[in-house]
Amino acid sequence: MKEDIQKVLFTEEQLAQKVAELGAQITADYAGKNPLIVSVLKGSYVFMADLTRKINTACNIDFMVVSSYGQGAKTSGEVQIIKDIGQKIEGRDLLIIEDILDSGVTLSYLMKILKARGVRSIRLCTLLSKPARRTVEVPIDYLGFEIPDEFVVGYGLDYAEKYRNLPYIGILKPEVYGGK
Ligand code: IMP
Ligand code: MG
Repeated sequence: MKEDIQKVLFTEEQLAQKVAELGAQITADYAGKNPLIVSVLKGSYVFMADLTRKINTACNIDFMVVSSYGQGAKTSGEVQIIKDIGQKIEGRDLLIIEDILDSGVTLSYLMKILKARGVRSIRLCTLLSKPARRTVEVPIDYLGFEIPDEFVVGYGLDYAEKYRNLPYIGILKPEVYGGK
């Protein structure tokens, strides 16, 4: 796997440091609110596991699986919910956990759908953001790092379902995915 990585962007230590900072912020903001923390699978599974263990106040955990690409390879702009949250979210303080915000299309749709269910509040925490790629404005409440327009893998992020288990985040060599 290592031979496919052009450059390490964030080491294990840098990720742990940032996750601890975000966890402390979220702990302070949600103390006593018993938030429902929802991760959008699969890319955010590592971030979710690390982050929630740095959140030091009562909370509930749930997962969603969504697909934004329908049948084709192009973004349709429509979100298909493949696995929904397994509980009622009305009146809850929702915190959505994402791995990376790219175009923003998936997240903006998802936030709209969830808001419509009568949540008390909804916020977004994303580990990475590629602002250069944004086509839909999505407000980020908790952000790990802004990154340049490069394809990154590791720490949960994949290319063709590979590299999720790398403990760091690295830029994938363009020749691996036939880019640039
Ligand atoms: P979007 O914001 O609707 O364009 O979708 C973002 C999704 O695209 C993320 O949840 C990732 O699954 C995927 N994605 C975007 N950029 C990258 C990347 O650099 N590496 C791995 N997955 C990515
Ligand atoms: Mg992915």
